[in-house]
Amino acid sequence: RRPAGAPDKELARPVTKVGIIGAGLMATQFALLFLRRLQVPVVITDLDQGRVDAALAGIRKELAGLQEKGRLDGDTANRLSGLLSGTVDKADFADCDWVIEAVFEELGVKQQVFAEVEPHLSPEAIIATNTSSLSVEQIGARLAHPERLVGFHFFNPVAVMPLIEVVRTPATDDAALATAMRVAKDLRKTAVITRDTPGFVVNRVLAKLLGEAMHAVEQGTPFETVVAAQQPFGLPMDPFVLLDLVGLKVGAHVLDTHHGAFPDRFFESKALHELAEANVLLEKDRKGEAKGIDK
Ligand code: CAA
Repeated sequence: RRPAGAPDKELARPVTKVGIIGAGLMATQFALLFLRRLQVPVVITDLDQGRVDAALAGIRKELAGLQEKGRLDGDTANRLSGLLSGTVDKADFADCDWVIEAVFEELGVKQQVFAEVEPHLSPEAIIATNTSSLSVEQIGARLAHPERLVGFHFFNPVAVMPLIEVVRTPATDDAALATAMRVAKDLRKTAVITRDTPGFVVNRVLAKLLGEAMHAVEQGTPFETVVAAQQPFGLPMDPFVLLDLVGLKVGAHVLDTHHGAFPDRFFESKALHELAEANVLLEKDRKGEAKGIDK
């Protein structure tokens, strides 16, 4: 059955080359997934060659790891490795028909990288953003063709989490949406179409959980008491381990965005920003005195 609002799948455009903007943790996970599931050339870019090279080495190491575990045969691992390339020259994105960004979660940064890449793309190419809580419409504000932009929000760990939120802005056209749905299916993920609202659906719920958990700790409730509160829900990870997984900086940013949009409904967490700055791991450091939190 088609999800509500899904366009005719015949409108989906073929994806023959994938461009990934960013070479951080999410971007490298995307590269691996696109390589394995779509088996098309994947090019990755970032600001400097050092970051690009580190990402390429990391992805190739993952491919070797999958081969060692018997999940990929040697020929496939070699072929996928050959389909992977890296560049600092956005002109190398010219023949990409699907471009996705996973750069720093800041509106200006995302607008800027798309403004740099779009002039090199064919008018048919689809542009996707992995933003978790910014407005997709605003991210597309500087695009010549905002109708080709969709939100395509993965969850961490990308290889395992089955869901993708596909975000339609008022400008997104049916071809872009249909292509996003097809790509999600080819990646063997479940796609849901969401409105372009802060946090979409999943992070709206998650921000409530994480914000309340941090607020309770900041109010003096011991970490372990808050951890115990997860038990009735059967969550696979407690809120603090989950924060470590998504990254405290990203977590703090998600809380800020929600607080900014709905100040009476969501907490921001100053402590989380401080803990992120101090590179604390909540799972490890909460056993002692977590730095930055005044108990
Ligand atoms: N990368 C790749 N694969 C991973 C992985 C990782 N980081 N972590 C675990 N896996 C794989 C394992 O290899 C294993 O695969 P196989 O069964 O094929 O061997 C499978 O996942 C299960 O792993 P484990 O048995 O080691 O561990 P587990 O049963 O404890 O599950 C988990 C691990 C899947 C991560 C689970 O703890 C979980 O679902 N946690 C919740 C994660 C979550 O909520 N993510 C959403 C975060 S929000 C977000 O990302 C959005 C945002 O915008 C902020």
